[in-house]
Amino acid sequence: MAERSRTKAIAVVGAQWGDEGKGKVVDYLASSFDYTARYAGGHNAGHTVIFNNHRYILQLVPSGILRPEKKAVIGPGTVVDPAALVGELDNLKKSGVQVRGRLFLSNRAQVIFPYHREMDKAAEAARGEAKIGTTSRGIGPAYEDKMARRGIRVCDLLEPDCFRIKLERVLVEKNAVSHAAYGHTLETAGLVDQYLELAAHIRGLVADTAVLLNAALDRGESVLFEGAQGTMLDIDHGTYPYVTSSSATSGGAATGLGVAPTRITGVVGVTKAYTTRVGSGPFPTEMPDLEAQEVRARGNEFGAVTGRPRRCGWLDLEVLRYAKMLNGIDSLVVTKLDVFDEQPEIKICVGYRHKGQRITEMPPDVETLAQIEPEYRTLPGWRKPTPGIRDVKDLPMPARDYLSFISDQLEIEIAMISTGPERDATIIPRGTKLESWL
Ligand code: GDP
Ligand code: IMO
Ligand code: MG
Repeated sequence: MAERSRTKAIAVVGAQWGDEGKGKVVDYLASSFDYTARYAGGHNAGHTVIFNNHRYILQLVPSGILRPEKKAVIGPGTVVDPAALVGELDNLKKSGVQVRGRLFLSNRAQVIFPYHREMDKAAEAARGEAKIGTTSRGIGPAYEDKMARRGIRVCDLLEPDCFRIKLERVLVEKNAVSHAAYGHTLETAGLVDQYLELAAHIRGLVADTAVLLNAALDRGESVLFEGAQGTMLDIDHGTYPYVTSSSATSGGAATGLGVAPTRITGVVGVTKAYTTRVGSGPFPTEMPDLEAQEVRARGNEFGAVTGRPRRCGWLDLEVLRYAKMLNGIDSLVVTKLDVFDEQPEIKICVGYRHKGQRITEMPPDVETLAQIEPEYRTLPGWRKPTPGIRDVKDLPMPARDYLSFISDQLEIEIAMISTGPERDATIIPRGTKLESWL
């Protein structure tokens, strides 16, 4: 029997340390998909989308919600702070975006409590110099509770009597731990009532989202999986321990949504034309301060969520090769090309050396990574504005050469080029796999 053709189910992942421009890319692609679904992370993410002179920052709600009529899912693999979610929904409403009937929250998603935030901050303070530089949103402690099997989930919030019993049991344990580890008693007064009130606001969104998405795919509807964070922040594959606490790579889409790997039909990787990182941890191609300041200013590299300045560096092809392998990237999107519009020369890391020896595998430990000597190639800049260009052939030649160099080195198609934060500052080269998904 001939195999039935599979319905379009495409994952969009960050190929670096997050903030690659996934929000913009997902917003662009979402018009060609019925659903957009978030599979990992929480409101540590900040996805910026700009169109019609309006800037939206989405944290938990998939960027696809900005496309009228399209549906969006927050999956079981996420961690949800109900107060943050309600705040985000209020902001969307103020911007005229109606979500009722088209946003669905998994009944199995984990719930973030204020004690997770407190413990996140206390753990960071205790790490001193070795702090991770988390977003202080309680993400790590919430995933810890999930894995320790003491997490409270969205379905629990909807059953007041059970919720009260479960939370009180957990609080005894959390308080004992916090006291012993940090000498700190947690603020828990009024927590049950506060969360039951928040539950009333989100009850209408709750669904079994794995059933919902699988049924949609069965009917031939298409799904775009929206990655959060990036490959190098993945809990298993990133620069551990300077990572987030979830599976940011494409495999996370399957586990984090309950959509089988056999149903995923393609993976889009998103990279900037350079590299940024927020928080601590090794960063082999990090620029010296002065150069970083220029790129930061031109690229407006300040965190969407925390406002922290992002560390800036050259594009690292070793990181992208690693990301291609781990995620199975079919198509690459290069964002923020315009940030290099005035750059006289552009460096690009083509390989790693450690103690003089060429190495071809990503080192597992941060100590080795911190000692990497990147091998650079230097390419000429173009010194011409790129925003407004709609066709690859209209890009200045050195910009096309830069993109071809990346594509050739990685043996991967570049299927979208972004030359500005706005939705329409986007170039879609012809004849790519990605174009066939639109
Ligand atoms: P995400 O977390 O991957 O969604 O990325 P963020 O939204 O956190 O960070 C990307 C930033 O770059 C946002 O401020 C975007 O508005 C902006 N941006 C995205 N694409 C481009 C681009 O091509 N050029 C410029 N100049 N800015 C861009
Ligand atoms: P988006 O989806 C960039 C980083 C934090 C910190 C580390 C751990 O916008 O790309 P956490 O609060 O998750 O425990 O922090 O991970 N981090 C991000 N960096 N973009 C993100 O998301 C990030 N989410 C977490 O800065 O270094
Ligand atoms: Mg971001």
